[in-house]
Amino acid sequence: MKLIWTKQLSVGNAVIDSDHKNLIAIINDIKRVIGTKDHSAISQAFEFLEGWLCVHFKNEEKIALAAYLDFSKYKQAQHYSLKELQHLRDELVAKQGIWSESATMHYSHFLMRWMNEHINKVDMPMKPRLQTLDYLFWPGSGKSEANFIAGRTANLYLQHLDTPTPCHV
Ligand SMILES: [Fe+2]
Repeated sequence: MKLIWTKQLSVGNAVIDSDHKNLIAIINDIKRVIGTKDHSAISQAFEFLEGWLCVHFKNEEKIALAAYLDFSKYKQAQHYSLKELQHLRDELVAKQGIWSESATMHYSHFLMRWMNEHINKVDMPMKPRLQTLDYLFWPGSGKSEANFIAGRTANLYLQHLDTPTPCHV
């Protein structure tokens, strides 16, 4: 089963929504790669996800701070999210492709739950505030830059560009 972004998942900001669409596409691909049990491909796929997650976390921080949201709790949640993913990545790499089909299902469900929780539990509380701003709100700039950033994020995964450098949240 694939994760699909729907309007119900919108948090009220074009850049964040675009990032989430991108992350959902990456998560769907990781689920596919886990099914292949190719541990070096799995490792690469996680590196790609962590890099984009980092870009996303920075975008969220920038937007939240400019929107006068208390970012400290989001920062903690981001840190925890990243640790959860890194734990899963380490577990998968250590197993070197040797796991059962039911374990594949388990990992797949874990990733879907992780993504859903990130959007619905961590980010959704920002929505009431973000909805008071323009959908194309982006700190210190006009709508055209927000459009550009949102469009760039949406296209990056499709274009298979380089993996961003993973960061420490
Ligand atoms: Fe997010």
